[in-house]
Amino acid sequence: MYREFLETVPVSSVGIDVAAARADTPGAEHVVHLNNAGAALPPAPVLDAVIGHLQREAMVGGYEAEDAAHEQLEAVYAQVADLVGGAPDEIALVENATRGWDLVFYGLGLTEGDRVLTARSEYASSAIAFLQLARQRGIEITVLPDDPSGQVDLDALRRELGRDVRLVALPHVPTQGGLVNPAAEVGALVRGRSDAFYLLDTVQSVGQLPLDVAALGCHALVGTGRKWLRGPRGTGFVWLAGDATERVDPPFLDLRAAQWTGPDTYDVRPDARRLETWESYVAGRLGLGAAVAYATRIGLPAIAGRVAVLAQRMRGGLAELPGVVVHDLGRATCGLVTFTTQDLPAPVVAEALRERGVNVSVSSRSSALWDFDRRGLDTVVRASPHYYNTEDEVDALVAAVRELRLQPR
Ligand SMILES: Cc1ncc(COP(=O)(O)O)c(C=O)c1O
Repeated sequence: MYREFLETVPVSSVGIDVAAARADTPGAEHVVHLNNAGAALPPAPVLDAVIGHLQREAMVGGYEAEDAAHEQLEAVYAQVADLVGGAPDEIALVENATRGWDLVFYGLGLTEGDRVLTARSEYASSAIAFLQLARQRGIEITVLPDDPSGQVDLDALRRELGRDVRLVALPHVPTQGGLVNPAAEVGALVRGRSDAFYLLDTVQSVGQLPLDVAALGCHALVGTGRKWLRGPRGTGFVWLAGDATERVDPPFLDLRAAQWTGPDTYDVRPDARRLETWESYVAGRLGLGAAVAYATRIGLPAIAGRVAVLAQRMRGGLAELPGVVVHDLGRATCGLVTFTTQDLPAPVVAEALRERGVNVSVSSRSSALWDFDRRGLDTVVRASPHYYNTEDEVDALVAAVRELRLQPR
């Protein structure tokens, strides 16, 4: 679905006013920030929302400031819901995607013999959680192979889906490359052939690709604020389908997630907020709302189109350099560009780039071990342009890598 979408986005229709986006981004003047898959530079409205609320807390008191922001806080649920095509009562606001994912995963009550299907590209924290329940409760993990393009193999998924499969969980876009897994096709298979729960990690896709839960067919998805959405750190969310809420009995409950109804009884909330806690980072939530509003105003199709164009330009430039190998897999690729340089370890490249004012990051084996081991990789440099980056910045990265390669060592 996304491949078709990306192929049909004509470059000329990518109507983003880059100059305006940069004028709104205080950090854009200081650094060539190509680490949006790590944490993006926030735009001014996000800063204003966070700082403004912190100041109000300091002036009138934290609870009082929250009361005053009640309507805006409620609006954040609607904004996030609109972003993914869900309803406000299907949204939980949490401190990061991992916590949200954990609450759903551990809330499914998996027991001995229950099977989990996942992808080779799975993120470390999810894989560790699977391994923990395999050790503690005897669940069985099946890591689906990739198809020849590197995406999760849909034929293998079709074959494996069956009676004991209780969960299918995978990343839409993995942490270690520009691959876009065919999440909607997975959803159609899961829904059509099993009653397994489908938990989708959209940490690296929300904010750079349009998402629509109806098309994706998942029961829950998790996202984070600080990456492609350009929100504050310490923010994340879960969309939990209304008709799947009762399938998730969160491993932790507090007095927001549940109500203490009698000396021996409690009622769990009927909506997604059963995944929340009473205390929260209120300023961050408002910042997340501002970030979602900002991304929505620019438009996710336009963002996806421009990110794809910049990433392709980067891949093309890097691939032409002698001794540089680009590693991104998949039929559809997005804004994460990964590469290695002969003789120069990825951390050395990243550090040297930072000294030249270019931010990138390093993905290492321990963040996605199944995938790194299969490909015989240990570390890769990960560069991730966003729509507010310029073609010149992309070219500056390529030029800096060329220069590093040429330097005598
Ligand atoms: C694919 C993927 N999933 C999950 C996570 C975890 O997200 P968070 O740090 O918000 O918990 C990351 C973080 O980099 C990621 O890249």
